[in-house]
Amino acid sequence: MSTIKIGLFGFGVVGEGIYQVLEQKASLGAEIKKVVIKQKDKARNAPSHLFSLNANDILEDDEIDLVVELIDDSAAAYDIAEKALKSGKSVVSANKKMIAEKHKELIALSRENGVSFLYEAAVCGSIPIIRNLEEYFDNDLLHSVKGIVNGSTNYILSRMLKEGESFDVALKSAKESGFAESDPYLDVEGVDAAYKLGIIALHAFGKRVELKDIIRKGITSLHPFDFQYAKEKRSSIKLIAKSVGNDNNELQALSVLPSFVPISEPLAQTNNEFNGVIVKSSLADEQFFYGKGAGRFPTSSAVLSDISAFKYDYRYEYKKGIEDFIPQNNTTASFYISFNGDKDVNKDLFERIEESFTGRERSYLLGEIKLSKLLASEVLQDPEISVIQLQKD
Ligand code: HSE
Repeated sequence: MSTIKIGLFGFGVVGEGIYQVLEQKASLGAEIKKVVIKQKDKARNAPSHLFSLNANDILEDDEIDLVVELIDDSAAAYDIAEKALKSGKSVVSANKKMIAEKHKELIALSRENGVSFLYEAAVCGSIPIIRNLEEYFDNDLLHSVKGIVNGSTNYILSRMLKEGESFDVALKSAKESGFAESDPYLDVEGVDAAYKLGIIALHAFGKRVELKDIIRKGITSLHPFDFQYAKEKRSSIKLIAKSVGNDNNELQALSVLPSFVPISEPLAQTNNEFNGVIVKSSLADEQFFYGKGAGRFPTSSAVLSDISAFKYDYRYEYKKGIEDFIPQNNTTASFYISFNGDKDVNKDLFERIEESFTGRERSYLLGEIKLSKLLASEVLQDPEISVIQLQKD
């Protein structure tokens, strides 16, 4: 096959990584013809003739077969993807926010125009989770998909727990390492993880999820008392994204929540910018996927894999369908909720309280909560209340 010509949008951490790899490895059979950027006067490690400020230099170039979109702004990214797909170009993207918010439209556009729309890099960096859900788990035997899907928060939690670093120092270091989003709120409040979970849910269960239907709390409310409690229970605290089906393998509930994970479990051993995903299905039982979830080269690896897949005309088939998700959340799960002495957490939130502790510094309640009640509860928004799930399955 002849060398494919790529139009690249964005030359940040990942864009430059892709450029470097394609330059060094001619055997990959792909070359970057043009790079569209926002500012031309920045120093860049590539010849200046490659760069343009005009999106049409890619979108109207008939020689360019594939658009690789690696920009930050999700609205601008959608504009590019929409135009590219409509003009018959395939698109590879790493923009989780754009995909989570416009998944239906983007799938329709790629189908109408008979082109590929691929986004392995948007979910868990170098771990090929989307391709596995599409190809290997394309049957109805899937029970749950859960794991650590955000590298920055995992990096921060690992540094806090292992090195005793403060949240601010660990976040600064996650930013400097190129793991964090340009708006780190998206990482630390679990929004980025929720976008990724929504994308996973479509491939795993055939359900298109809205962000508001995901039970979500990030890591900013965690208190030193919680880390101490975790240590005593021989557990780690991890931000776990979770999609769980019922006995008929129909999606029931989705959550992104700090969780106690016993230190013997693989997810507790998943540290720094690594991600880990556990896929549970009726026959295989549990399978664990582990790899780097953020950073220049791990993300480039997934983009490259999509570029190769495009060369053999690979498309996602969404074999499980594309239906809107209606949360069931009838089930209960176990939670630990901690708060300062002067706070009052309504005990009615719990179906059953198994443990309670009142202390001068911090108090907590532990017990069963109905997921529908938790989704509607203000404890998720309160920055002074920690909500931590107990991982029982
Ligand atoms: N900010 C994201 C993370 C980048 O930390 O996982 C990779 O999606």
